[in-house]
Amino acid sequence: MNTDMKILVVADYDSVKSLLQEALAHYGHVQFTTSREVKKEIDRIAPDVVLIVKPEDGSGVELVQYIQGELAEGIVIFLTEKQDFNLLRDIIRAGAIEFILMPDELALLTDRLDKIAELSQLQQRKKGTASQGKAFVRGRGKVYSFYSGKGGSGRTQLATGFAQALKLESTARVLLIDLNLQYGGVETFFSLDTSRTLADLVPVMNEMNENHIRNVSQRETHSKLEVLTSPRDAETAENMSEEFVSRLIRSSRRSYDFVIIDLPTHMNELTYTALEESDFIYYVMNPDTPSVQNYRLVEELFRRLRIDTEGRLEVVVNQVGRDNELTVSDLKGLIQNPIATQISRDHRGVQAAVNQGLPLQREANEKKLTPVAKEIRKWVLAKLS
Ligand SMILES: Nc1ncnc2c1ncn2[C@@H]1O[C@H](COP(=O)(O)OP(=O)(O)O)[C@@H](O)[C@H]1O
Ligand SMILES: [Mg+2]
Repeated sequence: MNTDMKILVVADYDSVKSLLQEALAHYGHVQFTTSREVKKEIDRIAPDVVLIVKPEDGSGVELVQYIQGELAEGIVIFLTEKQDFNLLRDIIRAGAIEFILMPDELALLTDRLDKIAELSQLQQRKKGTASQGKAFVRGRGKVYSFYSGKGGSGRTQLATGFAQALKLESTARVLLIDLNLQYGGVETFFSLDTSRTLADLVPVMNEMNENHIRNVSQRETHSKLEVLTSPRDAETAENMSEEFVSRLIRSSRRSYDFVIIDLPTHMNELTYTALEESDFIYYVMNPDTPSVQNYRLVEELFRRLRIDTEGRLEVVVNQVGRDNELTVSDLKGLIQNPIATQISRDHRGVQAAVNQGLPLQREANEKKLTPVAKEIRKWVLAKLS
């Protein structure tokens, strides 16, 4: 069986969920979500097949339409417990390929899935031979967000360094987005001018494409890394919608191989949306007690907001030095998420670069790097390999 096929099940009740869990037990990638959560998660998960169990609130048709719109090649199958001809007709019109009655027709469901799996294997084999030698698969970039509940922990320093190294050390197309809409930050590390900002994309949000983004982005002088700077304005920030943030991230991931996002500490619907849309979250933490306490609060907040970080949040310990209050191994005992890497504190090296408005790394395979730049580069190279 093709274990690569990603199946997303949208089910609101536990009874149906366990029934399907059993029926789908031999498929490798099965994820469950609810009709409330699916819109936030669909783009990140990018499933091959979506099984929608009829939601009680009658939103089934609308949901099928929405998912069809978001997934160019996704296949939608609708599951219900009651035969309903009108619903069947509307669901098929909306783009579902199959309408299956539970539990009677569950055998039909697995039969269908097996056929789809065979087909997608065939397609993948074809694509595989066609794209040999190409370093990156176009059309589905990875979104990495840098977050922390505590200001000054080094999000902007690391997000800019990470994006810069990624751009310099690979052929990937990289976009850095500064979502600190009120205060910005990225422009000071790269000396960028701030006349064009991501706010210029608001008027085209519904048809946003690569050209729009490229017209608004600026290029870091050395690497040509593309950067969307922040409007740095409370009023503009206030007028941005979560819909805009979600459109921005989705268009970006369609046009770039990597999208790196610098996030504010402040949790609002925009930060929430960006976190939900991210494939991966780097939580930047300093090795001291206040940072650990803050991390605990964020964990609790994520739980309450139902932001699922399972398998997609790693901690980056920043400012590691000899006189830290806590060591990295202390941290390992105090936090549950894995530690991605640790970055030293190098006040001199970092400050010198910041004062001149120069990036830490300026060319590929640069020889004379400061400790922080060297560590970021090593981390990025490990990610690329
Ligand atoms: N590893 C490090 N060594 C030395 N200074 C650092 C390091 N990381 C960040 N800094 C400095 O600490 C300050 C805060 O970092 P910044 O990235 O702006 O934090 P945040 O974006 O989380 O608020 C900046 O002046 C930055 O240059
Ligand atoms: Mg910052």
